[in-house]
Amino acid sequence: MKAGSGRKNHKLRVTMSIVLIISLICLIVTLIYAKGANKQVHSLSFDWSIDDPENEEIYIFATSGTPWSDKDAIGDQYDFRLVNNSRHAISNWSMVAYIPVGCDIDSSWNGLWAINQDKLIYEPADYNMYAAAGEQRTFGLVMYAPYVCDMNEITLEYTEAKKATAYPMFWISFLAGLIALLTLIVVETVSYRIGKYEKTHSAYKELVSESLRTIANIIDTKDEYTKGHSLRVAIYSRMIAERMGMSEYDQERIYYIGLLHDIGKVGIPVSILTKPGRLTTEEFEIITRHPSVGAQIMKDFSSIPGAINGIKYHHERYDGKGYNEGLKGEDIPLEGRIIAVADAYDAMSSRRCYRNSLSYDFIMDELKRNSGIQFDPDILKYMIAMVEEGYAPVSEAEMEDYEI
Ligand SMILES: [Fe+2]
Repeated sequence: MKAGSGRKNHKLRVTMSIVLIISLICLIVTLIYAKGANKQVHSLSFDWSIDDPENEEIYIFATSGTPWSDKDAIGDQYDFRLVNNSRHAISNWSMVAYIPVGCDIDSSWNGLWAINQDKLIYEPADYNMYAAAGEQRTFGLVMYAPYVCDMNEITLEYTEAKKATAYPMFWISFLAGLIALLTLIVVETVSYRIGKYEKTHSAYKELVSESLRTIANIIDTKDEYTKGHSLRVAIYSRMIAERMGMSEYDQERIYYIGLLHDIGKVGIPVSILTKPGRLTTEEFEIITRHPSVGAQIMKDFSSIPGAINGIKYHHERYDGKGYNEGLKGEDIPLEGRIIAVADAYDAMSSRRCYRNSLSYDFIMDELKRNSGIQFDPDILKYMIAMVEEGYAPVSEAEMEDYEI
């Protein structure tokens, strides 16, 4: 994963974690608040004459039957109905009604009744204690009174059994928390998969890089004086590509092509490659075959686009006097022009079987003298800058540690 996307993910993780924590806190606060609100006792009073009022949400509707006389008392059946038309359940409710002193309960249902002086007290049975929104609860008694009883004031006390889900804050917190949690799960899953992919990708990349470096070592082993030549050319070529503003992918591609540019030398006799003296015309002709031999070896290798361009055309000259096809200027593929500069610089700056390495001044003069003649001037200027700034030549240690 790129550093930028890693930072973005980290920011997202932190933000979502904060949202999740705040949502949980809000949820807990809502639950506590709902519980506290449900403990608050509400009180309502009604007249006996109340008659199913449409504008009341919670009320007690009371009726009595036909009274009868028994000895010195008036008996009657009283029916009550608790109506809950509110949006919330109610519980822990009880009723008190004022009655004449001297009343006597004969029988009752759906709860416990008691008389205290002029108060008739009702506590609902457990199964009658809870009235959900829209529900009714019935209860009643048969009672004897000294005269026709008129319960002129009925008081209802109750607590709300309002669920936490009835508060908007509950759903806002719940949804925000859920979104944060899902986002965190997605971010973690994607990060894990990307991490796994990157691990595999990096292992394959290392395998490719090490394999190509090994091939480069095989090429360079043919001539002990060119030991490390392919790797140095690859490093210089990549540095040039970087300075030219080429993409990361193209820089790697040029590096790999640099490693393989002299692969055709495996088909050239060692006696010619390592000959200390001047080459005969025939020997020179054989050695100039290595770009086309390399192209032939690599003909089925399509994984690195442009590989054959770099291998086949790295001895072409900008003025058209090179080999292998005598291409001129920008007709020479870019890979060939870049490697030509890197190759020539390394040939001059390292020791060969026929001479020692050349001096800094000589190399710089030679490079500048050949600008636009042997080398593409727009590419050569980067190589010259690398030498002037001390990035070239690379040391043995730098080569050893070089990683792409
Ligand atoms: Fe070459």
